[in-house]
Amino acid sequence: GKGNYRHFMEKELHEHPAVLGDTLRQYLDPKTLEVRLPRLPFEPARVPRLTISACGSAFLAASVGRYWIEQLARLPVDADVASELRYRDPPLVEGGAAILVSQSGETADTMAALRLLKEGGQKTLSVVNVPESSMARESDGAVLTAAGPEIGVASTKAFTAQLAVMACLAIGFGRARRELSTLDEGRLTQALLEVPGNAALVLEQNEQLRELAAEIAKARDVLFLGRGSLYPIALEGALKLKEISYIHAEGYAAGEMKHGPIALVDGNVPVIALCPSGPLFEKTASNLQEAAARGGRIMALTDADGAGRLSRFAERVIKLPTVCAFSAPILYAIAVQLLAYHVAVLKGTDVDQPRNLAKSVTVE
Ligand code: M6R
Repeated sequence: GKGNYRHFMEKELHEHPAVLGDTLRQYLDPKTLEVRLPRLPFEPARVPRLTISACGSAFLAASVGRYWIEQLARLPVDADVASELRYRDPPLVEGGAAILVSQSGETADTMAALRLLKEGGQKTLSVVNVPESSMARESDGAVLTAAGPEIGVASTKAFTAQLAVMACLAIGFGRARRELSTLDEGRLTQALLEVPGNAALVLEQNEQLRELAAEIAKARDVLFLGRGSLYPIALEGALKLKEISYIHAEGYAAGEMKHGPIALVDGNVPVIALCPSGPLFEKTASNLQEAAARGGRIMALTDADGAGRLSRFAERVIKLPTVCAFSAPILYAIAVQLLAYHVAVLKGTDVDQPRNLAKSVTVE
């Protein structure tokens, strides 16, 4: 049941610290600060190219994984939504591998992508939440997210658990390919071990996010902006908001604003910026400043350091814990999910069963 929570989604949001802890504990050794991956169907050191595919939120988790794997393991990654992969008819390389990401392990398009990739000679690994699912059975190997059952149609804890697994894979691949020093591996592993505690701190921003939600609930259109590994999280924030509050939202790479979407910016369109301090901060902050100069209402999700700079022109600033750039997407994802949740509650929609949507999409 829902316990003391109003919705399954709210309950599942609050399970983040536990779920992330359970998922990470499967693949990280807190004593040695090493990643311990299960047996994989391919050798990351020998794979020339990786294809990743999934649908919806799972695709966005996979897309963050792409940033991480390319950065940490220097392994080229192609990422495509499962429903498009076949039409792109990608030239699959010999000895290549593929990762399919799915909570249910039953999504028809992702299953079709899995089969296409297998037929194309790729070794397939699925990242699934349901161990006995079709995808887990049909792929050459499976790694599990330990999110437990997710009832809300909008993915929350399963999404961040997918991110946690992708992060572990990226570190493991980095080591296998000798791209990461022991020191780097320790530093990254340590950052992941701090994620459950930091997730609890994000949940403590509940009241601030609810106040922000009250502003968002009045809007007709909303923009989410992010850069680097936070770009897919901007897309996720927009997807979640559309899905459960029925407000039109779009996610953009912060640097793309001036190539079109900034034309939308006026005093009616809130711009939700995912902008932690760190290597990408300055560029994103100046994109935001440009939007603010055109009357845009900047709502910034940042940390203590970022807040100083952004509060000069942002209408609202919400301070999330200060974390390294590597783990930021996991924590900012929780914030945008919680925001969407509160907007939906304020709008009075059916949070757990949004219109027209099914938890598991078993038709192509
Ligand atoms: O079960 P899957 O992870 O394969 O599902 C994929 C998508 O249908 C799913 O993530 C969908 O986008 C969610 N409703 C997002 O909240």
